[in-house]
Amino acid sequence: MNLPFAEPYKIKMVETIKRSTREDREKWIKEAKFNLFNLKSEQVFIDLLTDSGSGAMSDKQWSALMQGDESYAGSSSYYALKKTIKEITGFDYFLPTHQGRAAENVLFSTLITGDDIVPGNTHFDTTKGHIEYRKATAVDCTINEAFDTSIYHPFKGNLDPEKLEKVLKDNPASKIPLIIVTITCNSSGGQPVSMENLQNVHQLAKKYGIKVFYDSARFAENAYFIKTREKQYERKTIREIAREMFSYADGMTMSSKKDAIVNIGGFIGLRDVELFRKASTFNIMFEGFITYGGMSGRDMNALAQGLKEGTDFEYLESRIKQVAYLGQRLKKFNIPVQEPFGGHAIFVDAKRFMPHIPKEEFPAQTLAIELYIAAGIRTVEIGAIMADRDPVTRHNRYPGLELVRLAIPRRVYTNNHMDVVAVALKNVFDKRENIKRGVKITKEAPILRHFTVELERL
Ligand code: F0G
Repeated sequence: MNLPFAEPYKIKMVETIKRSTREDREKWIKEAKFNLFNLKSEQVFIDLLTDSGSGAMSDKQWSALMQGDESYAGSSSYYALKKTIKEITGFDYFLPTHQGRAAENVLFSTLITGDDIVPGNTHFDTTKGHIEYRKATAVDCTINEAFDTSIYHPFKGNLDPEKLEKVLKDNPASKIPLIIVTITCNSSGGQPVSMENLQNVHQLAKKYGIKVFYDSARFAENAYFIKTREKQYERKTIREIAREMFSYADGMTMSSKKDAIVNIGGFIGLRDVELFRKASTFNIMFEGFITYGGMSGRDMNALAQGLKEGTDFEYLESRIKQVAYLGQRLKKFNIPVQEPFGGHAIFVDAKRFMPHIPKEEFPAQTLAIELYIAAGIRTVEIGAIMADRDPVTRHNRYPGLELVRLAIPRRVYTNNHMDVVAVALKNVFDKRENIKRGVKITKEAPILRHFTVELERL
């Protein structure tokens, strides 16, 4: 008999989490204006708001932290990180930043101006925010299959080469400072991009003389999917796959809070020294000197170690299998989820879950609220609230997908927690007819509104 699967680590330290009553949660969510970002973490039992910065560091990372070199310039921690980034990505130049969006800010300050067009596969919200804030336009070139949660496609993060080529053909190259490929694609459900697609994008970009950058927060999970779904990569290691992926890009932005399993940090990786020089000025202005950016020496040390652990196959397998375990449990209950399951999260299709709630009443947010009230589980809406208003018409944008994301922090919860989540969601699903109305917005910021939006139940 084959041995069952188990995590390649054991637990050395634990943190207490608290249950609460339904009554408590009804009161708390009302006080939070029905925005789950406003809840205190102690009001949450299982926190699936994000997999970002919420992972558990290893004993090796904690010991690396103790050896951080806090010199303002030229610290050994910087050089250790530089060496690891070079080994894993192949990029010669790098700039540390305090997190992913800071890397976007520095890079886009260097590259993007008003009127520019930035094609990609469903840009992440902060990425799109940084593009639109500069009065440029993000154009989504994701394949159509990604927008139907019931269709199976192994690489729903892929860009449609025809859609991309149309953008490149219809606009002068001077207006397209870069193409951004998000690996894995968070906004379409943690879906991977195939190596073949990365090669296609690279070829097209070369043909039209455009740069390609990867938004790489979950590049290792993407590499895992290439290894397990793209036949010719079956025997390659995760690191070999990652190196090949990055060989098709001019640079990368990284939120280290995801696949590098640290609680804070980010960086930009670059191939071109000229671009590195230009970006360095913005890094110094916004983040810090180029050998620490927004990070302390100890954080850079933990990050260097985390990059190694995050690209270990056995770790990735246990991580992605845990996400799939939750997905399977939900599927058994007939709960409509994005398939195939994502790398970092399961995405519940709120439109199919509650078809009776109109899009104007934000079904995904409504479901996230109900799940919190039912069991103290915090999730996040990836739908019309997050999509913001159109910057020109100011009308609400209703994206193809209206999802609730159950993001699984790395090395944090056990499958018992996943069971609680699955059953809680089933209980909401069984009584979904009782949810008669959704929510309406009472207060919102002009951009990135989901973080601070205030809502009322209808
Ligand atoms: N790119 C992607 C694909 C992301 O998922 C995120 C963050 C960022 C960039 C920005 O990085 O948070 O370090 O500034 N995603 C988090 C999430 C917040 O919950 O998915 P950051």
